[in-house]
Amino acid sequence: MISILDADFTALNEYIAAQNFSKLFILCDENTHEYCLPTLLGNLETNIPFELIEIEPGEELKNIDTAIQLWEILTEFKADRKALMMNLGGGMITDLGGFVASTYKRGISFVHIPTTLLAMCDASLGGKTGVDHGFLKNLIGTFALPEAVFLYPNFLKTLPHEQVRSGFAEMLKHGLVAHAKHWQDLAHLSLDKLELIYPNIETSMQIKQKLVDEDFKETGSRKLLNFGHTVGHAVESLFLHEGTTIPHGEAVALGMIVETKLSEIKGLLNKKECMEIIEIIRSFYPYISIEAWNNATLLSLIQNDKKNSHSALLFTLISTIGKGHWDVACQEEEIFEALDFYRAMS
Ligand SMILES: NC(=O)c1ccc[n+]([C@@H]2O[C@H](COP(=O)([O-])OP(=O)(O)OC[C@H]3O[C@@H](n4cnc5c(N)ncnc54)[C@H](O)[C@@H]3O)[C@@H](O)[C@H]2O)c1
Repeated sequence: MISILDADFTALNEYIAAQNFSKLFILCDENTHEYCLPTLLGNLETNIPFELIEIEPGEELKNIDTAIQLWEILTEFKADRKALMMNLGGGMITDLGGFVASTYKRGISFVHIPTTLLAMCDASLGGKTGVDHGFLKNLIGTFALPEAVFLYPNFLKTLPHEQVRSGFAEMLKHGLVAHAKHWQDLAHLSLDKLELIYPNIETSMQIKQKLVDEDFKETGSRKLLNFGHTVGHAVESLFLHEGTTIPHGEAVALGMIVETKLSEIKGLLNKKECMEIIEIIRSFYPYISIEAWNNATLLSLIQNDKKNSHSALLFTLISTIGKGHWDVACQEEEIFEALDFYRAMS
């Protein structure tokens, strides 16, 4: 269930009133504590006791150690099977909070209140929860749906520009793989004007929700959503390995450039459209240097991708704007050519 919140958070209050929760646990990070929690608490109308759990922000903490700490906190505060976990934050909080809730006592109820563009349009939807392990992204996780997602776009007002741009990459992806008009609506937007992005959020959510509804366990069409992520996750993992991070969406934007080129190399996409798409992505995103890693290093991470099967290297690619194809087997040399193409853009 996706609910748009009004200024009084009516849908959230009605949802809580209709249930019989024993306790509420609000999970946030330092930033969502500062910028979003006051609005949530100011509008929450319930007598059910709540506990606040705050963690530091950052992908580095989306790991099993933090999950263990959260399980321990839930135990300490005697969370029972009727407790509700409310995940107030970006994709880091919704992935982690969803994972912890879906595994604690074999699963307690949870809802997401996404506060980044990326979490609104993507991470809060579809029921993928998880943590990174070592430097491998989302290695451990569950498929578990939140009972509801409550959308309050005004939370974006405090989101740094870099994070708005990050979330926008997932919206572009939705257009490229499944909805040509959405891509056209986004392609020339100014990201400085949030009011221009707002009307497109619901469309992006609907595109993702439709693919998830068709194929919850990702055996077919949901794989379209992986466009840009095979290479993007590999690059994100390498940054994590170096002890640093880049916004998820920037890695996805890089991945979409490489995988658009790969679509052309495979003969799926014509050269003119390939270059048009790449130019538009480049107009939004800075070049991210991957010079520190050679093709073999990148390939070893790509091979580890969860989407591969029977040692074939499988990608989601596109044949035109709005039309994606999943499980396209690619050869090492084709992947290397696409990576070299990206490097040459520096
Ligand atoms: N489960 C899925 O289907 C799915 C899909 C896409 C991405 N993800 C995951 O999502 C994560 C990335 O999520 P993200 O991009 O939202 O990053 P994030 O959750 O790390 O948030 C980015 C930064 O913005 C801050 N922030 C959040 N809301 C704010 C607000 N309203 N005002 C000011 N600051 C705010 C956070 O504290 C953090 O510093 C990655 O771990 C990625 O793997 C999951």
